[in-house]
Amino acid sequence: MTEQFRVFATCDIGEALNLLRNRGYEVDVYPQPVAPPKSLIIDKVKSGIDGLITTLRDPIDAEVFEAGKIRLKVVAQIAVGFDNINRADANRYKIPFTHTADVLTEATAEFAFFMLGMLARKMWSAEHLTRDNQWGYWHPYLPFLGDEVTGKTIAIIGTGRIGLALIKKCAGFDMNILCYDPAYENHDYIKAIQEVMDLRHARGISKERNWIKYVSFEEAMRQADFVSVHVPLLRPGESATPTYHLFNEQTLKLMKPTAFLVNDSRGPVVDEEALALALRENWIAGAALDVYEKEPLPADSPLRDPAIADRCRLMPHFASAARITRLDTDPNKGMAGRCVQGLIDVLESNYGGDITKMPYVVNKEAFGKS
Ligand code: GLV
Repeated sequence: MTEQFRVFATCDIGEALNLLRNRGYEVDVYPQPVAPPKSLIIDKVKSGIDGLITTLRDPIDAEVFEAGKIRLKVVAQIAVGFDNINRADANRYKIPFTHTADVLTEATAEFAFFMLGMLARKMWSAEHLTRDNQWGYWHPYLPFLGDEVTGKTIAIIGTGRIGLALIKKCAGFDMNILCYDPAYENHDYIKAIQEVMDLRHARGISKERNWIKYVSFEEAMRQADFVSVHVPLLRPGESATPTYHLFNEQTLKLMKPTAFLVNDSRGPVVDEEALALALRENWIAGAALDVYEKEPLPADSPLRDPAIADRCRLMPHFASAARITRLDTDPNKGMAGRCVQGLIDVLESNYGGDITKMPYVVNKEAFGKS
């Protein structure tokens, strides 16, 4: 019989919560689909919960950790990104937090690829043409044409899990691949992809011999037909290689006027004012975004300008929103299952109670031997 732990979830994460209830946990769930106010999270934490389940919408900082300093033992985030959680504050209060990496890697990578295809082949405008009854004839180039993806060059900005998964998909489309990562380069993976590309060419599967290489940020931006963003959000002061507004007026101007930008990482990596200007003034051909500086996207966002609507696809932070990815209770398949398992690991002292050995804990550095 496990101790009766008390957990507050800021959002319903589905069936996985029953895994906790079945273990005798008391589980309190914020019932609304919108995020709870921070004051409510603080009240719940103060009331003596052991575990807090959060989404990327909840600001978790010193105020929350202070409220939990007597009893809160873990924050379990249902997302791979955790820029809403102040890591330095968590470490100061010695509260571990977990995330749900890996299980959403393929879903997020494929979504980036689908956005890229939708943008390049003008699927939104094409469907509007049909639905609005403006499809008056078949014509070789009227009213507009799109651009092929196959055989083009893509820059993958960020070669962590999701960037690498996208590389794999792009290789299947006979694309050439420029890689850039501000912090970490995986040369073994790139070498293996080049071997696959060479084999496809040698066996006549790909017409051209495709290539993949690491380059500087500037080269990646200048040479690519598509730029896809897969870096975490790191604000100045949080890292030696911050990513906040990495895409700004200056860097967007490096891109070819025929190139497209895709972002399903974190919104503030792109300066949206600059991007809207880049689209209005045709510095680049188009952009597809799934994430924004402010979410949900404000009604007065410059990205909503009707003048750029045909070249700017806007998705509702949806990349991981696939059934199994979001809700499966198996920690090796679903974010909900992995989130709950991360919480259980800490509360039930799995791995001999050694937090540094728990696979889903992010801030292991706060728990090393002192
Ligand atoms: C989604 O954006 C995530 O970080 O999981």
